[in-house]
Amino acid sequence: MAANGEKQKFLLYGKNGWIGGMLIELIKAAGDEVVLGDARLENREAVAAEIDAVKPTRVLNAAGVTGRPNVDWCEFNKQTVIRTNIIGCLNLADLCWQRQLHCTLYATGCIFEYDDAHPLGGGVSTAFTEEDRANFTGSYYSLTKGFCEEMLRAYLDHLTVLRVRMPISDDLSPRNFITKISKYEKVVNIPNSMTVLHDLLPASLALSKRKLSGIYNFCNPGAISHNECLELYKKHVDPDYTWTNFTLEEQDKILAAKRSNNELDCSKLVNALPDLEIPEIHVAVDRCCARMKKNLDAQGWKPTPRGS
Ligand SMILES: NC(=O)c1ccc[n+]([C@@H]2O[C@H](COP(=O)([O-])OP(=O)(O)OC[C@H]3O[C@@H](n4cnc5c(N)ncnc54)[C@H](OP(=O)(O)O)[C@@H]3O)[C@@H](O)[C@H]2O)c1
Repeated sequence: MAANGEKQKFLLYGKNGWIGGMLIELIKAAGDEVVLGDARLENREAVAAEIDAVKPTRVLNAAGVTGRPNVDWCEFNKQTVIRTNIIGCLNLADLCWQRQLHCTLYATGCIFEYDDAHPLGGGVSTAFTEEDRANFTGSYYSLTKGFCEEMLRAYLDHLTVLRVRMPISDDLSPRNFITKISKYEKVVNIPNSMTVLHDLLPASLALSKRKLSGIYNFCNPGAISHNECLELYKKHVDPDYTWTNFTLEEQDKILAAKRSNNELDCSKLVNALPDLEIPEIHVAVDRCCARMKKNLDAQGWKPTPRGS
C-alpha cells in the first residue's frame, strides 16, 4: 500500500520541467505509479487519447510556459504563451472534467499585487484569499495566468489550482528564487508569499490523493522579504555573500515586464491538511537553506566570489 492511502496512478504533464521532475521523484518514493504524459497540451485529441489509454486515477499538470531566461520572454512570444498556458491548460482541465477525473494544476500566485485593500505589511488579515480575483496585469505571463484562473473556476469540482509563488528548492537550481536573486546585480526588498517546495510538493500530492479540489494559495504561511531570504542564504550557505538593493522604480527601468509582489493567505491550505507540517515562511526558508548547505557540501560545491 502506498503512503497516504490507496495506490494511485498519476498521469503527469511537464515531465522535463523543474517542478515536474521533483514530482516524479516524490511519487515514486511514495510507492505510487507515475506515467509521463507525451502529448502537447494544445493537441486536444492527442491528450484525450493519452488519458483514455493510460486510465490514470489522477492527473497532474506541471506543464507551462514561464519564459527563459525569465518571464520577460513572454512579452515577445504571446501566441506561444496562449497556446500552452491558456489553450493547453483549459484542454486538460476540460478533458479531465468530462471524465470526472481529478486534475491538479501547478499554477501561479503571481496574479496579485499589493493594493489599498491588501497593503504591504498588512499581514494575514489583509492578505489575498482564494476568493480574490487577479489584480496584477503588469506582465503578459501574469495577465494570461489570471485570465486562465478565472475560466478554471468552472471546473473546480474536479480541479485543484495551486497558486505557486517564488518557488524555493533545496539546491542552487537556476529556477530557485534564492539562486535567482543571489545572482542579480541589484535586488529589490519586498515581503512576499513564497513556496518552499520541500514542504509544499508533498502537500500537493496529498490534496490530489484526497481529491481536495478548489483554488489554494500554495505557499508557506506569512511573507518574507528578499533581504531576509538572502540573510538566511548567507547564514547557512555563503558567509561572505553581499548584495545591493535598489527600488521598485529602478527595477522597472531594467525589465520588459513588471513583477508581482503580494501576500497570500494560506489558511485554507493549512486547515485542509492538518496532518502535514507547513512551516511559517521564515522557519521554512531557514530550514531550506540548511538543507541546501548539506546538499552542496555533499557535491563539494564552493561559493564563487562576486565578480570573479
Ligand atoms: N518556476 C517558477 O518560478 C514558477 C513560479 C510560479 C508558478 N510556476 C508554474 O509552475 C508550472 C511549472 O513550472 P516549472 O518551473 O517546472 O516550468 P519548466 O521547468 O519551464 O517546465 C515546464 C514544462 O512544461 C512543458 N511544456 C511547455 N509547454 C507545453 C505544452 N504545450 N504541452 C506539454 N508540455 C509543455 C515543458 O516541456 P518542453 O520543454 O518539452 O516544452 C516543460 O517540461 C508552470 O505552469 C509555471 O507557471 C512556476
